Amino acid sequence: MLKGRSLIDPMDFTTEELEEIFVLADKIIENPKEYAHAADGMILATLFYEPSTRTRFSFEAAMLRLGGQIIGFSSPDSSSVSKGETVADTIRTVSCYADIAAMRHPKEGAPRIASMYSSIPVINAGDGGHQHPTQTLTDLLTMRKIKGKLSDLTIGICGDLKFGRTVHSLIKAMSRYSNIKFLLISPDELRIPDYIKKEVLVKNNIEFEEVSKIEDVIESLDVLYMTRVQRERFFNEEDYIRLKDSYILDDKKMKLAPKDMIVMHPLPRVNEISYEVDEDERACYFIQAQYGMYVRMALIAKLLGVCE
Ligand code: CP
Repeated sequence: MLKGRSLIDPMDFTTEELEEIFVLADKIIENPKEYAHAADGMILATLFYEPSTRTRFSFEAAMLRLGGQIIGFSSPDSSSVSKGETVADTIRTVSCYADIAAMRHPKEGAPRIASMYSSIPVINAGDGGHQHPTQTLTDLLTMRKIKGKLSDLTIGICGDLKFGRTVHSLIKAMSRYSNIKFLLISPDELRIPDYIKKEVLVKNNIEFEEVSKIEDVIESLDVLYMTRVQRERFFNEEDYIRLKDSYILDDKKMKLAPKDMIVMHPLPRVNEISYEVDEDERACYFIQAQYGMYVRMALIAKLLGVCE
């Protein structure tokens, strides 16, 4: 039963509960009109303490397409956060006005704190370099729809594996499906954190390899998940400049990839995927962004308890 629950960590829901959400997302994609009034009279609050295009807009579009309404802020400067209000007090107040809230925050753990003080479901829309569970729902729905499965996949994850919250959430979620192999492609400085390695990969006996070049592994991949080197997570500009162009996926590298490999990216991209790759039918990152809206419709509907 998902009604009334919060989603803070990708492991908060069982794989069966995730499947329930994906099945509903499939139905919404098939027949969106049937769900156009599912959340009539209900309100989603989007509390974004950090910039966003896809996550905020897709949450808002999702609620509007369910017939609900939205309130919120896209920057802490335009709320009483700028006067020093705590996350706990903000969510207690928002709970008086809205039926469900999505929160993005630069501090790891802030959405969990919010969920502890909230009387409405709270959805983590990304907390610092920690987790981004609704991006993971998006990523899983994309693989499920395009590859037709969530097991028996070799997944290359490339770029900023140290600070990339989408990467951490994806690895955690995929660790529960069978026969998954990860090829982790990054510069030494941006390798996957030890806690993910020990507590997720090693603990669950997931096969993985850390490599430094896309070209060395691309021919063995079912999925190549590209990520951006995130300027906002670096402590100094020099390190960012040195590492920002570590990987650029272009047509030349795509020629080495299997014909049925798909390229995913949570977006935004900076220059880690050349624009020429957008024309390749294996480039799936914009349809992935669209699936993000549908899966958020399904998630909101389930947490509000308005759809089976
Ligand atoms: N993928 C993602 O989280 O994008 P935004 O930062 O634009 O929301």
